[in-house]
Amino acid sequence: MNRLIIISNRVQPPTGAGDGSQGGLAVALSAALREYSGLWFGWSGEITEEFTGHINFQRNDGVTTATIDLEEQDLDEYYNGYANRTLWPLFHYRVDLAEYERQFAGGYERVNTRFAETVGPLIEEEDLVWVHDYHLIPLGRELRKRGCRNLIGFFLHIPWPPTPLLLSLPSHRELVDSLFDYDVIGFQTTDWLESFLHYATHEMGATVEENGDVVVGERRVRAIACPIGIDAENFVALAHGDIARETCVRMRTSATGRAMIIGVDRLDYSKGLEERFLGYERFLSAHPERAGHVFLLQIAPPSRGEVQSYQEIRGSLDSLSGRINGAFADIDWVPIRYVNRGYSRAVLAGAYRAARVGLVTPLRDGMNLVAKEYVAAQDPEDPGVLILSSFAGAAEQLTEAVLVNPHSAEEICDALEQALTMPLAERKRRWRALMDNVMREDVMWWRRTFTAALTAFSRPSVADAA
Ligand code: ADP
Ligand code: G6P
Repeated sequence: MNRLIIISNRVQPPTGAGDGSQGGLAVALSAALREYSGLWFGWSGEITEEFTGHINFQRNDGVTTATIDLEEQDLDEYYNGYANRTLWPLFHYRVDLAEYERQFAGGYERVNTRFAETVGPLIEEEDLVWVHDYHLIPLGRELRKRGCRNLIGFFLHIPWPPTPLLLSLPSHRELVDSLFDYDVIGFQTTDWLESFLHYATHEMGATVEENGDVVVGERRVRAIACPIGIDAENFVALAHGDIARETCVRMRTSATGRAMIIGVDRLDYSKGLEERFLGYERFLSAHPERAGHVFLLQIAPPSRGEVQSYQEIRGSLDSLSGRINGAFADIDWVPIRYVNRGYSRAVLAGAYRAARVGLVTPLRDGMNLVAKEYVAAQDPEDPGVLILSSFAGAAEQLTEAVLVNPHSAEEICDALEQALTMPLAERKRRWRALMDNVMREDVMWWRRTFTAALTAFSRPSVADAA
């Protein structure tokens, strides 16, 4: 069997602790690496004075990771710069926040080149190579320049923006062009795939063949929609474990009979947290009878704190939660519990299970795994209700959720009332349909679907050589 080389900006080696401290992507990729052997390459998260290209190999729980340190300038221009101040906002439709600095673009190119130079020599002839996310779009091109003829796949975990927005990126054509150096590119939903195809056909004169191949002159890439899932079986087991059970009891005790609404998100402007708080405020105003009978637990660990837009969203949420609590709280009730820290997955599973409503309202999200985790953690006999933004990738699969427009405080308000009054039979019916999808299209299904598409792809040069 071929080896698999996974490349992503962030590398999360397995802990083997079994305590639910690992994310779903890490679990899936680790499982893939055990099946195929191979390694997981990326940035260590550490900074060194000068880039050396030194690779730190580690083996944990059957998975080899290979990491490199970057320089301060790389962090500024590549990670905080082009990745998170240019591409992230633009690809989440926030052109207003996107910053176009040549320096960022230069740093992005430099780090992609550094990745290619360092990982290139580790790639052997029959290896499958799988590159992840917006940090590394041009990596395939850099690897090809260095003679790599392997099958290389790319998966984009975030949305693909509509063409008119993408056109605002100064080097849009070059960036998209570099995707044609991959063999297979995967998107989370058919919506993002269609946006990509729109750009390719309208801006590059591409033709799309029946098998999904996108052809521009001599160049060809197969584009597929392949939604990522969670490690559902494992999450269900976590939700039944001791830590989750204790958390669930702790939450219910502290709720003292009040219905809990839960939100769990990185502190990111794409998650629609301000709009969520405003929707909840509208709900409190429209339903004064609910005062003292419901509360919102919002868990939001800080993220990308060196980027100004992230500092700003943090500030706005602090004052908004304070304002709402100030206006509505009573001596024995606080309407919003707002917590800025991370928890283990087992604790999260318990908190989800204790919540009557899962409130997941991103303004734009590639997928949103929290929605799937909320579903997986529910008690089948008394499941909670998922309220989901129709602008999350997950909405394409989780159609039995209560779908809302996250920009509308009124829709959030109505959805909360609908969820809190939903009869048990309807809750069960909706949950069953959601759960079937979460179990069927889980993270193992995702990576099998993607790697199968990659291995099925026949590169002309590969076929000729055979
Ligand atoms: P994104 O990848 O944009 O952060 P997702 O919803 O797809 O959004 O995935 C987020 C992941 O991070 C989920 O697995 C979720 O459980 C985890 N997560 C989010 N907030 C926390 C937190 N406070 N503590 C621990 N894990 C968290
Ligand atoms: C999103 C991105 C991932 C990224 C994660 C956490 O899920 O698609 O690529 O790793 O957010 O963000 P961070 O900047 O902390 O890696």
